[in-house]
Amino acid sequence: MAYINDNFTKIHHRYLFAEVAKRVAAYKEQNPDAQIIRLGIGDVTQPLVPAVIEAMHRAVDDCAKAETFHGYGPEQGYNFLIDKIIAHDYTPRGIHLDSDEVFISDGAKSDLGNIGDILSANNVIGVTDPVYPVYVDTNSMAGRQIRYIPCTEQNGFTGDIPAENLDVMYLCFPNNPTGAVITREGLRRWVDYALSHNTLIMYDSAYEAFITDPEIPHSIYEINGAKECAIEFRSFSKTAGFTGVRCGYTVIPKELKIKSSDGSLVALNPIWNRRQCSKFNGASYISQRGAEAVFSAEGQRQTKEVINYYLTNAKIIRDSLQKSGFTAFGGENAPYIWLKTPKGEDSWKFFDRLLHSAQVVTTPGAGFGTSGEGYIRITAFGSRENCIEAMERIEKIG
Ligand code: MLT
Repeated sequence: MAYINDNFTKIHHRYLFAEVAKRVAAYKEQNPDAQIIRLGIGDVTQPLVPAVIEAMHRAVDDCAKAETFHGYGPEQGYNFLIDKIIAHDYTPRGIHLDSDEVFISDGAKSDLGNIGDILSANNVIGVTDPVYPVYVDTNSMAGRQIRYIPCTEQNGFTGDIPAENLDVMYLCFPNNPTGAVITREGLRRWVDYALSHNTLIMYDSAYEAFITDPEIPHSIYEINGAKECAIEFRSFSKTAGFTGVRCGYTVIPKELKIKSSDGSLVALNPIWNRRQCSKFNGASYISQRGAEAVFSAEGQRQTKEVINYYLTNAKIIRDSLQKSGFTAFGGENAPYIWLKTPKGEDSWKFFDRLLHSAQVVTTPGAGFGTSGEGYIRITAFGSRENCIEAMERIEKIG
């Protein structure tokens, strides 16, 4: 007899974005001619930049010849990519990393979910609320207890440092879903908390490319001591339009150690390496060559142009909403706008109203947690025309 992991039967029966997709599909079936504008899931709409496309074409050609063919790559990723990541994303910020501290993967979502493999089921997990559902779902699947730290207008959506001991704390800045950013001092407070409580921070920095304010940290390792308490997750999805290509990376510094059940300290880096060797065969050579091209001079110029395009969309969305009398947050160093529903309307109701009356798809804040009630999330990843058109339609329904 096989037995299910009961934890799976206890979680929400549908993933948030699947529920949104189901409602949109039902509406579309009844209104086949509706011109729906999708600003719900944070999926990119602009094509991959030429530097990436050319590199991927070359990689395909490599695979067409026996002399340059690539089969299984290193489980940790190719050094040609790891070295560029370190040289571009970390060294200029005064962060030293060895190449075996960076693990290439098929995206941050997988790593954020899989990292739980190496943690005890007894850990008490802290998440900011509202929260990217993956942190909650994957820890619930493992049967871990979760504590929610409210992120509200009052605390700038960054959460207050908790009084209680948390074993693991997930942070995401720029934040999904609120679009909030954290200052260096704010992040310092979390690192100090982690160091003094032996808390492991999972730092999701998937949206760092959207930071334009030089005062806002891109990496948690900009804060002294963070290498002893934090894992950082990054992605090419939003930085370079890789949502369909799949490539991301996770940094586990060698200094990072946590307790084993006998009380001894264990370094996480070799443990994660061991896990990856058994469970992962590496991201594809073609994706990694594409990701490498993001760091070329052309790749940098072209991807920055796309990021600026989305940031301009975000500004248009935020400004139009504010002009129409709505209260909106985020969207300045982030691709997400966090819109307060009018008169405290229930966020799923407002979502439905926007879908039915304006044919605009958003994401209801309540889907991201209790503190998301009374908000909806709008992404800036649409085309310019769609963002403008969506704002005109929303303004009309008020
Ligand atoms: C989102 O809409 O929150 C993101 O697209 C989901 C993701 O990156 O997995």
